[in-house]
Amino acid sequence: MAESISIESGAPKEIKYEQLLPQIFALIEGEQDEVAVLSNVAAALHQSFANLWTGFYLVRKDVLKLGPFQGPVACMTIDVGKGVCGQSWERGETIVVADVDRFPGHIACSSESRSEIVVPIKDSNGQVKAVLDIDSAHLNSFDTFDRRYLEQLCDHLANILY
Ligand code: SME
Repeated sequence: MAESISIESGAPKEIKYEQLLPQIFALIEGEQDEVAVLSNVAAALHQSFANLWTGFYLVRKDVLKLGPFQGPVACMTIDVGKGVCGQSWERGETIVVADVDRFPGHIACSSESRSEIVVPIKDSNGQVKAVLDIDSAHLNSFDTFDRRYLEQLCDHLANILY
C-alpha cells in the first residue's frame, strides 16, 4: 500500500524539504521503474508545495518528451537548447528563472507560469537522462533552498533509475 506524504503546511521551505525528502525516499524505496518512481515523485512534490506544474521531461533520442507530471496539460516535445528545459539539458545544469518573461526562449506551456526551476537528472557518465521542471504562478518562487534540495532529490533519482 502507498504511504501518504505529510509535511507541516505553515513551515519554512527548508523545513518542508527536510521533512519531505526522507518521505519521498521511503516511498520509492525498492522501485526502479522510471514511470512508477517519477509519477509518485511528481505527485509528492506537487501536493507539498502550491506550485502550478510539477513534472519530468525525459530524454528520448534527440528531444525531451513529456513524462510523469501533475498540473495542467503541457508541451509534449522540447528540442535541445529550447526553453528552460532544453537549455538545462544542453548545459547539464540547474536553471532558476525568477521571471519567465525575462528568459529568452522560455516556452509558455501555461500563460499562468511566472517563475520556474529546472534540474537535470544525470547518469553516472554525466549524461542527462531527464529533467525535473517546476513552474509557479508567482514571480521569484524558487531560491537556493529549492536548488539545493531538488538537486539532492535528482541525484537520488539518478542513482536508483539510471
Ligand atoms: N516552460 C518550459 C516548458 C515546459 S512547461 O513549463 C511544463 C520551458 O521553457 O522549457
